Amino acid sequence: MAVKPQFKVRFAGSYTTFKDMPQTAKPEFAFIGRSNVGKSSLINMLIGQNIAKTSAKPGKTQTINLYNVEDKWYLADLPGYGYAKTAKTKRQTWQKMIADYLLKRPELANVFILIDSRLEPQPIDHDFIQWAGKNQIPFAIVFTKTDKISKNELKKVVTQWQKLLSTEWEELPEMFISSAKTKVGRKELLTFIGYVINQITQSTHKF
Ligand code: GTP
Ligand code: MG
Repeated sequence: MAVKPQFKVRFAGSYTTFKDMPQTAKPEFAFIGRSNVGKSSLINMLIGQNIAKTSAKPGKTQTINLYNVEDKWYLADLPGYGYAKTAKTKRQTWQKMIADYLLKRPELANVFILIDSRLEPQPIDHDFIQWAGKNQIPFAIVFTKTDKISKNELKKVVTQWQKLLSTEWEELPEMFISSAKTKVGRKELLTFIGYVINQITQSTHKF
């Protein structure tokens, strides 16, 4: 896929259940991670325009927000997990909404699990990665906000994750470093998305 400065993007809708989502028959890439980790910012960085709403306050994205990219693929901006200020019942509803979407959406091609590069491995992210792995959901890890730390600090946290995951996995998942501010990782992530799209369209008749 050509890495354009800006892609032609259309907002396709907001959903509270995957059942209401359209059958697009196009590869879909979802972004998940803790509230405030930078999901919406990363989507904007990748597509080269501010279409997904971001906020300094956690809990901004509360629905599954779908974006059509060039009529060829889709991006799904998901609400964050682990937002403590939300009422427990609402949190459970969100969790079910996200789990259902990830387990049942036929279009789902890959989930980017975003991790704040400033923190050492957190149980909540680790649990989510385990859950995705056990359920055979295709995923890659993206470290966010790398502009806020030094190269050494970044190396340290990436190594910590590699060590942790290699005790449980034979093969490590793809890992990317990113910054919505400096656009680090943009080319790599878009190249990966292009690669996954090619794999899917060549290897199956699903789309
Ligand atoms: P929710 O929708 O609440 O779950 O959050 P989110 O994961 O979508 O985070 P969002 O993109 O709204 O970003 C949260 C805050 O982090 C905002 O103030 C962003 O400007 C900031 N932010 C996100 N990515 C980066 C980054 O790469 N670098 C820096 N410096 N700030 C970032
Ligand atoms: Mg968001």
